[in-house]
Amino acid sequence: MKLVLDCDPGLDDAVAILVAAHYADLIGITTVAGNVGINRTTRNALVVAQVAGVDVPIHRGAARPLAGAAVDGSRIHGQTGLGNSVLPDLTWSEASDDAVAYICDTARSVDDLHLLAIGPLTNVALALQRDPDLRRHLAGLTIMGGGAHIGNITPVAEFNIWADPEAAAVVFEKAAPVTMVGLDVTNRVVFGDGDIARMRATATPATELAANVVEYLLDRFREYLGHSTVPVHDATAVIAATHPQLFEKSRHPIAVELSGAHTRGMTVADLRPAALGRALDQPRPPTSDVVWGTDVEAVRELIVEAVVAY
Ligand code: BDR
Ligand code: CA
Repeated sequence: MKLVLDCDPGLDDAVAILVAAHYADLIGITTVAGNVGINRTTRNALVVAQVAGVDVPIHRGAARPLAGAAVDGSRIHGQTGLGNSVLPDLTWSEASDDAVAYICDTARSVDDLHLLAIGPLTNVALALQRDPDLRRHLAGLTIMGGGAHIGNITPVAEFNIWADPEAAAVVFEKAAPVTMVGLDVTNRVVFGDGDIARMRATATPATELAANVVEYLLDRFREYLGHSTVPVHDATAVIAATHPQLFEKSRHPIAVELSGAHTRGMTVADLRPAALGRALDQPRPPTSDVVWGTDVEAVRELIVEAVVAY
């Protein structure tokens, strides 16, 4: 699978870069502000790629959401966005500061390209505004984000959608069907001390980095929630793109809530029978795929195996 990865590293994004380069023909990475600011997410993508020898062009993207101020996920991801990892000096540099042009051009020039977005959807929405035909040039569009009425940053909103709801609304409206790898499934694939020890055992710079970022994430879950395992959302989304046969999904109309006092950033999936909406004469948003479940053990194993291969 030929893949462009749009990301905001971010602890789980860092693991996702390794997993994507292992299982897919990763042809480029684009960055977006999200977990931390755009300077950090771009630097982090470069440093992860450099450490792991993932030699693909990295293009800097949007610094802020379509509306409002940039958000911040540093309470989970640390001030740098990569926890407390000690990082080498950066010698690699970004290919351009125009991720949106790169996405549009690559979609038109590369056959069967799949776009996987694991951060806020700002770059993807801007690409759709620039090229309304973008979706027709993509073999698939998968996102880590949303969920059918569950949230993490609010009771009903997932971080990536909540960080730029206007962008998410453009994407679900103009680029359907989207494969929504949301919290319904990513919350199920969790990692504990044993998985971290396995990642660390091979002791290369890249496996050390992956083990450190998952450990930092797990420490936050211990601190805030008392949990002994942690999801690595973005890595699961990579496996959903590269190994779709392992996942269960169903197609539903999805709208993004933009104005609710308690529900902004919610992905509202219409799970009712389609006939009911028709009988009530209600408008139906475009339909996308909600990913519900997976073979949790198999996905966890694929992620650990990808990491230790470095
Ligand atoms: C998503 O939010 C970010 O903090 C993670 O990197 C992931 O993409 C999970 O809700
Ligand atoms: Ca992310």
